[in-house]
Amino acid sequence: MLALPLILIAYLAGSLSAGVIVARVLGLGDPRQDGSGNPGATNLLRLGGRRAAAVTLLADAIKGVIPVVLAHGLGVDGAALAAVGLAAFMGHLYPVFFGFQGGKGIATGLGVMLAWAWPVGLMALGCWVLMAAVFRLSSLAALTSFALAPLALLATGYPALAAGGAIMALVTGWRHRGNIQRIAKGTEPRIGKRQT
Ligand code: G3P
Repeated sequence: MLALPLILIAYLAGSLSAGVIVARVLGLGDPRQDGSGNPGATNLLRLGGRRAAAVTLLADAIKGVIPVVLAHGLGVDGAALAAVGLAAFMGHLYPVFFGFQGGKGIATGLGVMLAWAWPVGLMALGCWVLMAAVFRLSSLAALTSFALAPLALLATGYPALAAGGAIMALVTGWRHRGNIQRIAKGTEPRIGKRQT
């Protein structure tokens, strides 16, 4: 029963779309209308530069970390802990405060994974950084790291969290379908470059 209010809190926290808020504060318009149309750190980098992107990244990650850490601290684990993390992730994708038009969930999902099991979260983050450094494609880095994370959760003894991670990976793949098509065509913009 304790999990239900925590799931609601996680969803509400996830619904605080940092990219939209940061863009409004900095007078950058609505990142859901410009660039890739994604209110995430990658698009904020295109539209507003490094500082806007860094704040967005950090805030979106923290809203994934806090509800899971809170749940963990209250003794919630297994499937209920997976559900709390998924609720924060889904809040970012479908934010109640922003007309249910959210982002792709990468920073929030990484925050959730760090709080679920920090070694796996660090692995996912490391994978993102490595892939981004090599290919300069934020979407490819995200898709790779989210595909590997459930396997790592399973291998390290967290089957319920692995199921949660697999759901995140599938949803992430769906939300990146436009990016996947652009990667296949070779038109996906490199990190920091404007959308073509
Ligand atoms: O974190 C989102 C990233 O994977 C892709 O962002 O703006 O290039 O669609 P974007």
